[in-house]
Amino acid sequence: MTKLTKSDILGIGTSVPERVLTNFDLEKMVDTNDEWIRTRTGIRERRIIDDDENVSDLAARAARAAVADAGLSMEEIDLVLVASGSPEMIWPSTACLVQEKLGIKGCPAFDIQAACAGFVYGLAVADSFVSSGLYRRILFIGAEAMTRFLDWTDRGTCILFGDGAGAVVLGQAEESYGLLSHYLAADGSGADMLKIPAGGSGVSGERGAQTIHMRGNEVYKFAVKKLPAAVAGALEQAGMTVADVDYCVPHQANKRIIDAAVERLGLPREKVVGNLEQYGNTSTASIPLSLEKLVRSGDLKRGDIVVTAAVGAGLTWGANVIRWSGAAGGTG
Ligand code: COA
Repeated sequence: MTKLTKSDILGIGTSVPERVLTNFDLEKMVDTNDEWIRTRTGIRERRIIDDDENVSDLAARAARAAVADAGLSMEEIDLVLVASGSPEMIWPSTACLVQEKLGIKGCPAFDIQAACAGFVYGLAVADSFVSSGLYRRILFIGAEAMTRFLDWTDRGTCILFGDGAGAVVLGQAEESYGLLSHYLAADGSGADMLKIPAGGSGVSGERGAQTIHMRGNEVYKFAVKKLPAAVAGALEQAGMTVADVDYCVPHQANKRIIDAAVERLGLPREKVVGNLEQYGNTSTASIPLSLEKLVRSGDLKRGDIVVTAAVGAGLTWGANVIRWSGAAGGTG
């Protein structure tokens, strides 16, 4: 029988588009204002993908940086996974498009769909592959061109989202380091609360359906409950409590959701890492973008306990607990 091993984050890399769209720019596009957006969401600006780029371009850039950070070559990658709430097309998968852009030949590639919880879900999937011994070095990317799915006349959604990508390379962990536990959950009865109805086989050609439809208040209430529940669930599975956490890296949906969740958990605010002000909600990319920021800050130390957590359409929610080894970003 294959020996079960833990996986670890060996490398991390990110990529965001250059074009910045500020709240003041949005004031000229839709009936909103900077003050409302900042106080209700915590967002000041977001990045918008260029017209001549696609989500696989952002993903490939983040992936190159992550593979370089891991000190590996592309030939050493034996599985490509992409989580995206804004995949380039239904199929082929964005993972296949990225594989081609990276010049990787032959290894399997597929997408994971868990909307904004995709990064948390994907870490669990990748970890299981490494643990089972099926794949040794996995390139996992959260990548979004979310703004391509926005209705720029809907002020309830168009102010929230932005584009970007973050990638990690997962491989075998040193004893007691790496990914320690995962908590994943879903409730399909909430599917109607947050969705992009068209673009699949369910609805064809319905005007305006290929944009984000959201019942913001209901999503807000769901997120405030489930984000802390996910953190608590993953910590329990790791045999830990909130007191063991050094850093929490929550999905960046709304500052008020994060503040409420953190308060409910009793987690000190200074342990919470984010980038909402600068990037808005970048869905599956928000956790790796925040994690990379933490890595580059120099604050993260070998042995630190990091908890990631996310909520998303589905409804989906989940969290991961990591004991940081320092393999990524030269932080060991
Ligand atoms: N600018 C100015 N006013 C706005 C506005 C905007 N962009 N959007 C809504 N408003 C107005 C509403 O029309 C309403 O006005 P009224 O009182 O005159 O009717 C008022 O602001 C309050 O609207 P409401 O929808 O209750 O605001 P809210 O406090 O719930 O904030 C969200 C709206 C979308 C910011 C909030 O519900 C939210 O963040 N929800 C979760 C969304 C999310 O994170 N989704 C992704 C999950 S992965």
